[in-house]
Amino acid sequence: MYKFIRPLLFKLSPEAIHRLTVGALRIAGAVPGGKALLRAFFSYRHPSLEREVFGLRFPNPIGMAAGFDKDAEAYGALAALGFGFVEIGTVTPRPQPGNPRPRLFRLPEDNAIINRMGFNNKGIEHAVEKLRNRNRQVIVGGNIGKNTLTPNENAASDYLRCFRSLYEYVDYFVVNVSCPNVKNVTALQNRENIAAILDGLFDFRRGQNRYRPILLKISPDLTDEQIDMMTDIMMETPLDGIVATNTTTSREGLRSAPETVARIGNGGLSGAPLTERSIEVVRRIHERSRGTYPIIGVGGVMTPAQAQAMLDAGASLVQVYSGLIYNGPGFVKEICRHLTEAGRQRAESAGQQDSGRQGQDA
Ligand code: FNR
Repeated sequence: MYKFIRPLLFKLSPEAIHRLTVGALRIAGAVPGGKALLRAFFSYRHPSLEREVFGLRFPNPIGMAAGFDKDAEAYGALAALGFGFVEIGTVTPRPQPGNPRPRLFRLPEDNAIINRMGFNNKGIEHAVEKLRNRNRQVIVGGNIGKNTLTPNENAASDYLRCFRSLYEYVDYFVVNVSCPNVKNVTALQNRENIAAILDGLFDFRRGQNRYRPILLKISPDLTDEQIDMMTDIMMETPLDGIVATNTTTSREGLRSAPETVARIGNGGLSGAPLTERSIEVVRRIHERSRGTYPIIGVGGVMTPAQAQAMLDAGASLVQVYSGLIYNGPGFVKEICRHLTEAGRQRAESAGQQDSGRQGQDA
């Protein structure tokens, strides 16, 4: 069905569609029976999909990546669309408009998106308002950032402000230091700056009754040595996990006409061109940390098989964004069905191997 609607939708500006979609989801989430209808069409539950990760129980491992529900307005409807969790944000302390438009572009030949939104959001107080009376059944992560005008020397206080305000209202946090669209944010990805940001959050958390896991979201453009450093930071501090990865500034290997890509200009690339790198980054972190820390794998998951590959590389949970845009609202259900079936087949073949071995032993 989405195959037929997509060409029509893709005629509209990407940002207009995004606004319409979030608006429609907000309404679907608010009208009586709206979420039940979405669930009836799109949700897929199976006990084998359930996961316990950083102390939280997820109905399935597929989440909505940050940047879609920036202002925490559609998370209820997104959960009804089948997502096992929703990451809201990136939220900054003060509202800000983001970069000038146009700032969101599709590259259909590459199944990709380029965005330079620049943390457009309604600010932390709006997000808190939207989350205050939320249904705690839905797992919501809070992705936090700094205002564009805040210099990097003061970044830590922006992150802390968002962390404190949201602490009661989200289930886990993601510290976003990897957005390529806000001046100098990616420069925060060094040991000193990360420590300055995280220490304040750890200190605040120590004084709270409830524990909120904190994860760091990293760029796919880091060198392998930098990724190892991030992994070491995770292992040496009370950081709970890593979200890998954000969008890339690379334009390597694109099929779209170079003039088109050049005309679009700066921005973070997401979707199919990111698949290989993000899976590689997840695998590297998983191996270095010997599988002892949760990793949320995100970047270029465009098919159910790629979601499985991300899990096989060591991700405990997977998020999608571009895959939803290119595959439509049935995508999460498709992935969940695939994971269930793959799990069944693996269990069956493991059982056969076991009984084969027992037969040999006998
Ligand atoms: C994003 N992404 C993003 N990430 C983040 O941490 N904070 C944000 O505000 C945003 N905003 C945002 C806007 C748009 C339009 C896109 C396409 C992406 C990045 C996103 O969460 C994800 O990490 C990447 O898009 C890679 O995943 P996909 O899209 O390849 O599945």
